[in-house]
Amino acid sequence: MKLFAGLEDILKTDEPLAPYTWFGIGGRVDYLLEPKTPAQLQEVVRRCRENDIPVRVMGGGANLLIDDAGVKGAVVRLCAGEFRESEFTETGLRAGAGAEMRRLVLRCVREGRSGLEGLTGIPGTVGGCVRMNAGGAFGDIGNTVESVTVMNSEGETFTRYRADLAFAYRSTNITAKFILGAEFRLEEDDPQRILKQVKQIWIYKKNTQPLASRSAGCIFKNPRGMSAGALIDEAGLKGKRVGGAYVSEKHGNFIITEPSARASDVLKLINIIRETVYKRMEVYLELEIEVW
Ligand code: EPU
Repeated sequence: MKLFAGLEDILKTDEPLAPYTWFGIGGRVDYLLEPKTPAQLQEVVRRCRENDIPVRVMGGGANLLIDDAGVKGAVVRLCAGEFRESEFTETGLRAGAGAEMRRLVLRCVREGRSGLEGLTGIPGTVGGCVRMNAGGAFGDIGNTVESVTVMNSEGETFTRYRADLAFAYRSTNITAKFILGAEFRLEEDDPQRILKQVKQIWIYKKNTQPLASRSAGCIFKNPRGMSAGALIDEAGLKGKRVGGAYVSEKHGNFIITEPSARASDVLKLINIIRETVYKRMEVYLELEIEVW
C-alpha cells in the first residue's frame, strides 16, 4: 500500500468497524489506522492530508453508531502503544487517549486516589470521555481534568490547561481533531471509602440500566430538567422493536441490538422515538450518540 508505505503494521484496509463498537453493527472503513506514538499519528495525518483522505477519530466505540454503508476514508484509533499508557503523578493521573476509563477508575480505587469514581460504569476511553465530557448523575469527567494534550489536523500538538477549557453538559470547547491524552487532578483518600462509592454507583446502575446487553449507553441527551429515559418510558415505547433493535425494558434511553440488527434498524427506531415523544410531549430529543 503505497499511500501508507512504511506504516503497514498499524494499518488495516477494508476493515469491518462493527467489532470496534459496543453496538456491534455497521459497515467497513477503507483504512483503519492504529498509531502507537504521536509521531506516527503525525505521519498518518500528513499522508491523509496530502492525499485528500477524510479522517475520523474513534474512541472506545461505546457511544457510536456506524451506518450499514460504512465509512469512506480513514478511521484512526488511538488505542495502542503510548496512547494506552497511564501513570499516577504527585497531583493526579496522566493518561493516554486510549486508556480505558473503567480500568482507570479501578486503579484509582486501589491507589486511594479520589476524583474519577463518579464515572463508575461509564464505558469508553479517556479521549472519547473528555471529548464529550462523559458522565451522569454522579459527576462529569470535566470536573477533574487539569490539562488536555491535543493535535490539530495539521499535525501540530498543543497542551490546553484548565483555565482555558470549558466543560458543559456532554460537550467541551476542545476543537482540535485529536485528543492525545489528559491529566486529572486527584485527591488522596481512603481506598475503602472510594470503593464503597464505586459499589453504590454500580448497584444503582445495575438496577436501572441494561448493563448485560449490547447497547451504546444512553441514546439521547436529557432535555433540560428532564430525563430522556423517563419521557420515552411515559410515551409507552419500552420494548418497541424495529428488526434486531429494541428499546430496553429496563431503561427507556437504551437501545439494545441483537446480532441480527442493522444500523438502519437503530436509525428507524431513533426516528420513531423522536416522533412519538415529540407528538406526545412536544419535546425534541437530541442524540447523545454519534452517528457515522
Ligand atoms: N426513569 C424512568 N423510566 C426509565 C428511565 C428512567 O422513569 O425508563 C426515571 C428514573 O426513575 C429516574 C429518572 O428517570 O427518576 C432519571 O433516570 P436515571 O437515574 O436512570 O438517569 P438519567 O437521567 O436517565 C442518564 C444516565 C447518564 C446519561 C444521561 C444522558 C445516570 C445515572 N445515567 O441519566 O449516564 O449520560 O442520562 O446524558 O446519570 C451512566 O451514568 O451510566 C449514564 C448512562
